[in-house]
Amino acid sequence: MNVRLELRDAKICDRVNGMSRSLLSASRISRSKNSLSLPEIRILSFTQSLSFKMDAMENYMQAAPDKIQVLAHEQYFTREHISPDTVLPNPLDQFRAWFTSVQGKVREPEAMSLSTATAAGIPSSRIVLFKQLDKRGFVFYTNYTSRKSHELSENPNAALAFYWREVHRQVRVLGRVEKVTKEESEAYFRSRPLGSRIGAWASKQSTVVGEDELHGHFIEVEKRFGVKEGDTDGDIPLPDFWGGWRVVPTEVEFWAGKPSRLHDRVRYLRKDGSPDESPEWTIERLSP
Ligand SMILES: Cc1cc2nc3c(=O)[nH]c(=O)nc-3n(C[C@H](O)[C@H](O)[C@H](O)COP(=O)(O)O)c2cc1C
Repeated sequence: MNVRLELRDAKICDRVNGMSRSLLSASRISRSKNSLSLPEIRILSFTQSLSFKMDAMENYMQAAPDKIQVLAHEQYFTREHISPDTVLPNPLDQFRAWFTSVQGKVREPEAMSLSTATAAGIPSSRIVLFKQLDKRGFVFYTNYTSRKSHELSENPNAALAFYWREVHRQVRVLGRVEKVTKEESEAYFRSRPLGSRIGAWASKQSTVVGEDELHGHFIEVEKRFGVKEGDTDGDIPLPDFWGGWRVVPTEVEFWAGKPSRLHDRVRYLRKDGSPDESPEWTIERLSP
């Protein structure tokens, strides 16, 4: 099978018996040739600027009018070994250590999946931005009248998942939510760019809207708060329907990818009855 690649910066790896080794640097290839044909190659990683076209992607994916079938899988190679003996006693400290260490290595490490569920247990997930970690938990900001906020109000159980592809790590969090204080939301709201502050007022998040209508709301909000074209700042107060939620964890899991799917998984479970100010945790290794 031939796969033709046209790309600027990627690593191409070959696969032999499930093992992967670096074969070629595509940046070198593109200098000599804009396209090449090789049997049995896979793209394992590519940078954000990568533009690639494939005439045939059977090696990775089969696409037919009615289906997509993904055939290939990444192999994971986190160097670091984690176990209940090597992690920090508190999962928030462990998260802080991991989050800090991926700065500059992972694009948008703050993007996380947030899962909520209705009172009847019907789940829904979406991506939101993790904004703060404090002593109690993980904070994100949103519209308090949105679908997610309605669900959190009727069922305060939430789940978060971070996937940091570049370092082959995942963090999962389960917990109960609480609203952050108005002062915290105000402080964060003030730090947002002007357009985002206007947008927060203009959007009745999760409701059906026409494009012109949404644009109209934005203009109305600009007028209401005296914002003129070219302004880069303005006095836009925090809407009372907008603010932060904190996920206070009862369970946190750290996952580090390893070859042959023998990944490291370390789970923290909050001990029943341990005090909010200094919760105690049971730390265990899970089977991958
Ligand atoms: C990368 C990314 C970051 C996002 N960050 C936020 C966020 O911080 N807060 C938010 O309310 N929505 C954010 N969204 C939009 C949500 O995914 C979602 O569309 C929106 O919150 C409405 O969800 P809901 O109808 O379930 O309440 C983000 C989307 C993406 C793709």
